[in-house]
Amino acid sequence: AQVCLIRVMVVFALILARQLTMQMMQNPQILAALQERLDGLVGSPSGYMESLPKVVKRRVNALKNLQVKCAHIEAKFYEEVHELERKYAALYQPLFDKRSEIVRAAYEPTDEECEWKPDEEEELTEEMKEKAKVEEEKKDEEKEDPKGIPEFWLTVFKNVDLLSEMLQEHDEPILKHLQDIKVKFSDAGQPMSFTLEFHFEPNDFFTNTVLTKTYKMRSEPDESDPFSFDGPEIMGCTGCTIEWNKGKNITLKTIKKKQKHKGRGTVRTVTKTVPNDSFFNFFSPPEAADFEIGHFIRERIVPRAVLYFTGEAIEDDDDDYDEEGEEADDEVSRLLFVCFYQRYSPACL
Ligand SMILES: *[C@@H]1O[C@H](CO)[C@@H](O)[C@H](O)[C@H]1NC(C)=O
Ligand SMILES: *[C@@H]1O[C@H](CO)[C@@H](O)[C@H](O)[C@H]1NC(C)=O
Repeated sequence: AQVCLIRVMVVFALILARQLTMQMMQNPQILAALQERLDGLVGSPSGYMESLPKVVKRRVNALKNLQVKCAHIEAKFYEEVHELERKYAALYQPLFDKRSEIVRAAYEPTDEECEWKPDEEEELTEEMKEKAKVEEEKKDEEKEDPKGIPEFWLTVFKNVDLLSEMLQEHDEPILKHLQDIKVKFSDAGQPMSFTLEFHFEPNDFFTNTVLTKTYKMRSEPDESDPFSFDGPEIMGCTGCTIEWNKGKNITLKTIKKKQKHKGRGTVRTVTKTVPNDSFFNFFSPPEAADFEIGHFIRERIVPRAVLYFTGEAIEDDDDDYDEEGEEADDEVSRLLFVCFYQRYSPACL
């Protein structure tokens, strides 16, 4: 928790520094003065080191070697954190399995399991209760006997900005068939990684029942730059091949293009297939870009899906955003938000 707190403080410091920088950038005088000072400073830290007596320099090297050893011990610490996560993942899993059964109507929860005392704040007046009841009855009449919790994961996706940004209209009919998202950790002794598994019910779009995305992590100091080590980092990711049914590949679109013959000047129309925007491009990743998304799904969405479904988790998250969100501010708040909830993996900085 202390490490986490320090990271949050670092992020705050970075935000402050950034805001300050932006203010200063707008003031040419400050900028010029700053440049002057910077020019004066160039080389001075190393100059100081060089000015030290040889025997002292030698000892500083010893301290650096100790620092490298610290980094290796820290790596061991994070390996154990990973082990602990694996251990606890196994404890959560039966509950997530039950959640999935309820969502996809494989299990009907008992009355006792469905009892839920609302918050006092949520307590409704008699009149509102009556109104809600009438409306609910009306809805029940319209949709006869819905199975499980319809569109559970699709609703989660729509409720979370980070995910809804990737969502296209033509993805929605497919995501209605999404029944579960699972996180699988690499086995002990294997290179550190985690896999997001998207479980689908049989559907018209593709024949896969599970789509996967694996994030490889590294929790070792880099030989060439050991001091930059700050916990496990996501190093890369691999998606999977989606076996689209004929004509259902929504990650492709065909466009008609007019081509003019250079010599004769005649015009012909050709059809070309080009990539189309889709959430499902997530599984054929253009690398790097979606580490944040993978981490977010693992750390937030999967453990607390119901609260994203109801929107409760989103209200909490909104507290982390600035009210008057300029675009730059938004970006920083999101970074802060992501870092804040990362138990480890400070790669986001
Ligand atoms: C390509 O994307 C557009 C807009 O996002 C969508 O309307 C269209 O249906 C997609 N094409 C295919 C073939 O799915
Ligand atoms: C679907 O489209 C992607 C490009 O977005 C392509 O790489 C893939 O091979 C296509 N799959 C099928 C089964 O047509």
